[in-house]
Amino acid sequence: MSQRYYTLAEGCPFASSSTAVLMRNNRGGGLGLLQDIQLIETLAHFSRERIPERVVHAKAVGAYGELADCSDITSASFLNEAGKKTPVLLRVSTVGPEAGSADTARDVHGWAMKLYTDEGNLDWVFNNTPVFFIRDPIKFPSMNRSHKRHPQTHLPDVNMLNYILLYPELTKHYSFHVGNPEGIHELLHLFSSRGTPQSIRHLNAYSGHTYKFTKEDGSFKYVKIHIKTQQEVKNFTREQATKMAGENPDFLIQDMFEAIERKEYPVWNVYVQIMDPSEAEAYRWNIFDMTKVWSHKEFPLRQIGKLTMNRNPSNYFTDIEQAAFSPSTMVPGFAASADPVLQARLFAYPDAARYRLGVNYQQLPTNAAKVPVYCPFERDGNMRFDDNYGADPNYVNSCLQPTRFYPDVKNIKPSSVSLHTEHEQWTGEVTAFTSHITDDDFVQPAELWKVLGRQPGEQDMLVGNLAASIKGVKSSTLRNSVYALFARVNKDLGARVQKATEEAIKQ
Ligand code: HEM
Repeated sequence: MSQRYYTLAEGCPFASSSTAVLMRNNRGGGLGLLQDIQLIETLAHFSRERIPERVVHAKAVGAYGELADCSDITSASFLNEAGKKTPVLLRVSTVGPEAGSADTARDVHGWAMKLYTDEGNLDWVFNNTPVFFIRDPIKFPSMNRSHKRHPQTHLPDVNMLNYILLYPELTKHYSFHVGNPEGIHELLHLFSSRGTPQSIRHLNAYSGHTYKFTKEDGSFKYVKIHIKTQQEVKNFTREQATKMAGENPDFLIQDMFEAIERKEYPVWNVYVQIMDPSEAEAYRWNIFDMTKVWSHKEFPLRQIGKLTMNRNPSNYFTDIEQAAFSPSTMVPGFAASADPVLQARLFAYPDAARYRLGVNYQQLPTNAAKVPVYCPFERDGNMRFDDNYGADPNYVNSCLQPTRFYPDVKNIKPSSVSLHTEHEQWTGEVTAFTSHITDDDFVQPAELWKVLGRQPGEQDMLVGNLAASIKGVKSSTLRNSVYALFARVNKDLGARVQKATEEAIKQ
């Protein structure tokens, strides 16, 4: 490094960074010339510095670490040997606000983890709430429960401008939830103190979706993954979060960075809830509906690993901004379930990455697998920066140059590498599925309200947070519908939210 000297982008050493090539006379000033390559190159690069920010989850904390295995319940290589360590990249984000927003804005928090395993990369793209509901009446009108996304306060979406100007954000937010009550479970989480974590080190994360742990014989178990902080959960109150947003918009990023610099490495235990396919068929809840959780009594947590974050990114842009996570990035032993939201996500993320980073985004150092990659069908494209498979044919199984496959190399059965389980039989018909709301959709939210009641002050905090938000809704008709929505969860909750809101409006 000490040998480093200043050059242009293609290596030409330059004597000074402050020399301009000008047509000038002795009266000062001068006319710029096209031959001032340094100036032109620098100006041109400057105006291309930004890449599109993520359409959601734009602002985030990032760190490196490792996952240590402590079980053997799948054939996934990174989890089949106690003590085995897998390097990890973690990115924890807010969902709605754009990249310049305050970390402590109330929001669900995204938890994206890239495990660089010895059989390729595995991405866990989770949230800090065990249930989730995608909310966007404008963008995904036809995908019902699976696909509704929230009208985001900060989403810089010019197509929404007319709509945003006609209807204030809060009105949209609540009119959406009244019309789509299946999101109530997540709404309760969001307006509890969990919506404003005090530190990324002090939050839990959940797969939300059901996934599958598969075995070499093609059999599988359904799993939900829970990542629980050893540092204990700590949240801000509404007032603290608002104050911090003004004082230090990068508070959560700084908190994680400084803790790692101090060598106070945060640690999480990684657990799974496991369900046999036969139990899934008989279970009260649809395990492919992400607005529902599984009972911990019936499906207790089993620890599978320990996650430690112990290294800061050396460059935020290359390590974190250029990182691309996708639930479709999987390894043998881990597979997607038939949750329709997950199915949609398997497509959406690589598609987003190809747009945001370019078609060869998997080659960027932060995304590249730590194992050899050989997919000669995928050649060329913008910004290819490896050897592009040299003189190999752009297909596999050439008789002139035979291709080797993993089962032959490892002497294992092909089923042990498949991301698709052989034992899953599907019969069905193509249908336009529309979900309907039933009283069942309110059972688990009612349980959550009770659980909050067991922690001193949590119910009050939820009611206060909701009142502070709903009081901004000008239409009393809409407010009454919102109270009715919460009363459907629990009469007392509805009444308390109504009382607190109407009192706050009078003040
Ligand atoms: C159909 C539903 C969903 C769609 C279409 C969707 C789409 C997206 C898109 C386009 C991105 C930006 C990706 C990028 O530009 O790199 C993103 C990011 C993210 N999503 Fe989703 N999402 C959905 C549901 C979910 C759910 C259910 C979860 C959590 C369980 C989730 C967690 C995340 C996280 C953590 C990120 C940030 C990834 C990162 O750090 O780069 N999303 N999502």
